[in-house]
Amino acid sequence: MSRFYITTPIYYVNDAPHVGHAYCTVNADAMARWHRQVGDETLFLTGTDEHGQKVAEAAERNGVSPQEWTDQTSARFRASWDDLNIAYDDFIRTTEPRHYETVQKFLQAIYDNGYIYKDTYRGLYCVSCEDYYTSEALNEGNCPVHGRPVTEMEEENWFFKLSAFEDRLLEWYGQHPKATTPDTKRNEAVSFIKGGLRDISITRTSIAWGVPVPWDAKHVFYVWYDALVNYLTAIGYGRDDALVEKWWPNVHHLIGKEIIRFHCVWWPAMCMAAGMEPPAHVQVHGWLLVGGQKLSKTMAGEGAVRLTDIAPQSLTAEFGVDPIRYYLLRDTPLGTDGDFSIEGITARYNTDLANNLGNLVARVATVVGSKCGGLSPALPVDSPLAAEAKTAVDTARSAWENFAPHLALEATWRLIGATNAHLELNAPWKMEPGTDVDRVMAEALEALRIITALIVPAMPGTAQTIWERLGLAGDVASLAFDEVTSWGQFPAGLTVTKGDPLFPRIRVEA
Ligand code: ME8
Ligand code: MG
Repeated sequence: MSRFYITTPIYYVNDAPHVGHAYCTVNADAMARWHRQVGDETLFLTGTDEHGQKVAEAAERNGVSPQEWTDQTSARFRASWDDLNIAYDDFIRTTEPRHYETVQKFLQAIYDNGYIYKDTYRGLYCVSCEDYYTSEALNEGNCPVHGRPVTEMEEENWFFKLSAFEDRLLEWYGQHPKATTPDTKRNEAVSFIKGGLRDISITRTSIAWGVPVPWDAKHVFYVWYDALVNYLTAIGYGRDDALVEKWWPNVHHLIGKEIIRFHCVWWPAMCMAAGMEPPAHVQVHGWLLVGGQKLSKTMAGEGAVRLTDIAPQSLTAEFGVDPIRYYLLRDTPLGTDGDFSIEGITARYNTDLANNLGNLVARVATVVGSKCGGLSPALPVDSPLAAEAKTAVDTARSAWENFAPHLALEATWRLIGATNAHLELNAPWKMEPGTDVDRVMAEALEALRIITALIVPAMPGTAQTIWERLGLAGDVASLAFDEVTSWGQFPAGLTVTKGDPLFPRIRVEA
């Protein structure tokens, strides 16, 4: 048995959760569910990033204290995740006492190791990014990410000697070429390091909304410096060394491509400075775009497309939870950008869910009802579908292991297609009851049983519903993946139930 510790970015609470956040969180959830299914000891962490100027300003705009604001907004993230059936093991808020404790101990370790010093900093700051830019990096004087004006800031601050880690970081990536995937994103991090690293200002005196610096009470830590440490807070850094040893070597950070520099340059250097191993793996994902624009909270209301209006709950209310999970996992491979559209959801829904999976479930139950007395027939020894099932299972396994949910689902849908084709070829609905129908339907039931186990990580609710309609006992998600997905187990004599259509077709207006 191995261990799997997966994290999402902790989301800023300056505004409500949107579909981009849901994309990352659903992918992390599906991977956690798959690892639980194969019996790995799994820890899935998500949460909210509650400090920094951007959040303080959002609170002020809304006329409440930062703490009240973060309480409200963090709760909205949790409500969204509950709605999407996200089974996180821990939800961290950076305003929790446990986080203050870890941040202070971790940064104190870096300070004690001699990598933090005091200096004056002057620079161009984008509040939306919570980051400084050089003037060359600006786009016509504006932030290259948000297109908003930057402000000139000057502060006496504490600095982290990031520049001292250039060689060690390059050496680390040389020795751990898969530490960031896909390779293109690792190359991006490596060229950034090769371009030369400047020390970073890690504290602020201009705002009070942050974690206090233990050795200098006038300062709070800069939000990114506290935020990254959340991944260690959750596993007890500074409180439980055994827990850190247990989880840290198995960490996988799933992040969006805009925060590569923080996770693949700063964070490994911070870990080195504190005397820890860098994170074992960062999996980068791309952006969902609507009409070519990233979904972003900070761009809304400034003339850009108001994509933040797309709340995950509005989608699940319209299409159902599992169809949205399926769409997010299937449509955009991790690592590339994807087009988000209602037309895209509708197409996936009607084709993959209504026509393929839903139709298979309905057909099998109907024919078992009309030709086999509603009971599962005995399974023959050999079946042409057995090899198809094995291919699907093997492909899905390696796809989940390699952070490619879309390929796991594609393989599963090939098996669904093969099973539908098997039914069409044999046309059991035209046969008289008897051994031929029994054989064909037993094979279809067995294929469907395996398909059901394969869709658990993506569509846990649907999987359990199908499982029960097939007359199978227990909770499909808790059955060992290897055993449940091997061919030849469907018991004879189970009552198969038809039930309502799982995915009634959505009418598309011409
Ligand atoms: O960056 N498409 O928080 P954040 C896909 N607090 N994913 C998207 C997306 C889009 N259009 N928009 C956002 C922060 N995301 C920091 C992180 S971690 C120590 C601190 C997802 O609220 C994606 O995963 O801006 C991205 O990295 C994350 O939301 C950023 O969320
Ligand atoms: Mg952002």
